[in-house]
Amino acid sequence: MSSQVSMNIQTKSTLFSGIQPSGLLTIGGYIGALRNWVRLQHEYDCLFCIVDLHAITVRQDPKTFAERCLSFAAQYIALGIDPKTATIFLQSHVPAHTELTWLLNCHAYMGELSRMTQFKDKTQGKKEQTIGVGLFDYPVLMAADILLYQTKLVPVGADQKQHLELTRDLAVRMNHYYGQIFTVPEAFIPEVGARVMSLQEPTKKMSKSDENEGNYIALIETPDVIRKKIKRAVTDATMGITYEPDTRPGVANLLTILGALTDRAPTALAEQYADKGNAALKGDVADALIAFLEPFQARYHELMDNRDALYAILRRGAEQTRHRAEPTLRRVYGAMGFWQG
Ligand code: TRP
Repeated sequence: MSSQVSMNIQTKSTLFSGIQPSGLLTIGGYIGALRNWVRLQHEYDCLFCIVDLHAITVRQDPKTFAERCLSFAAQYIALGIDPKTATIFLQSHVPAHTELTWLLNCHAYMGELSRMTQFKDKTQGKKEQTIGVGLFDYPVLMAADILLYQTKLVPVGADQKQHLELTRDLAVRMNHYYGQIFTVPEAFIPEVGARVMSLQEPTKKMSKSDENEGNYIALIETPDVIRKKIKRAVTDATMGITYEPDTRPGVANLLTILGALTDRAPTALAEQYADKGNAALKGDVADALIAFLEPFQARYHELMDNRDALYAILRRGAEQTRHRAEPTLRRVYGAMGFWQG
């Protein structure tokens, strides 16, 4: 019986994803990524990581950092990721991530890392003296995250595709030098995907680290603030509601949010609201957000008020992943010819 159970676990493909504990988790992150994780946990052997080591590529306040990491973990769980089904852990709890990063660093090239568009965007206009090496090396740490677990599938948004390509290149390169040591991972594009845009600048993606708080709805936002932010969301002066993301991005974004929360296509919703105004649509978007977030927040606060249970979940996650990471790390050291005692 028990061997049957472990067989099942082993035959499921491994899926890895991570979110940086910076800023606040938003409704955009839920609709674009976390919502899919909740579904995927039943089909795949899922590792969901809070990538705290990636987060320090930008200065973090040591006074609030730990609390934010815990808060992210509690939010994963409150959204429906079941720690008995999927593994939830903090990246810094598994030293193999940084160890493998070094081994990969010695096979990555300055040229390929310099070409990463995220690196170029984040450093644009900055003096070289002020650009952290961690920011440059960020994609190699991400490759280590993925390769350490012989990951098959990585759900990534458009902005992370290039990093996944680099991960694949590194895996292929290492396999070529040293023999088959890594599974070459693939991008996983979920069937249901929706990109939620900024509320004030609906042509750019909603970001959890946006300086303007009016641009996003945090998952832990209060009902009053949700109503206020949705009310102020940028729309346009055209009469009636239509779904035209190119010409009416603000209205389309509201339809996307409402559609995701009520399981309806934005185009179908547009027909339903055709004769109504922006105010009616906004009122319903706010209602849907509050209806979704209230029970989520209750679960979240329960977890944050019961620290021992949360700590236990994260300690178990760390222990499980440390065990799982070890064979790959040993295999890489061995293949590279290190004496391992
Ligand atoms: N770089 C990713 C992001 O900013 C986060 C991340 C780190 C990640 N390691 C990962 C995503 C491994 C997928 C797999 O979104």
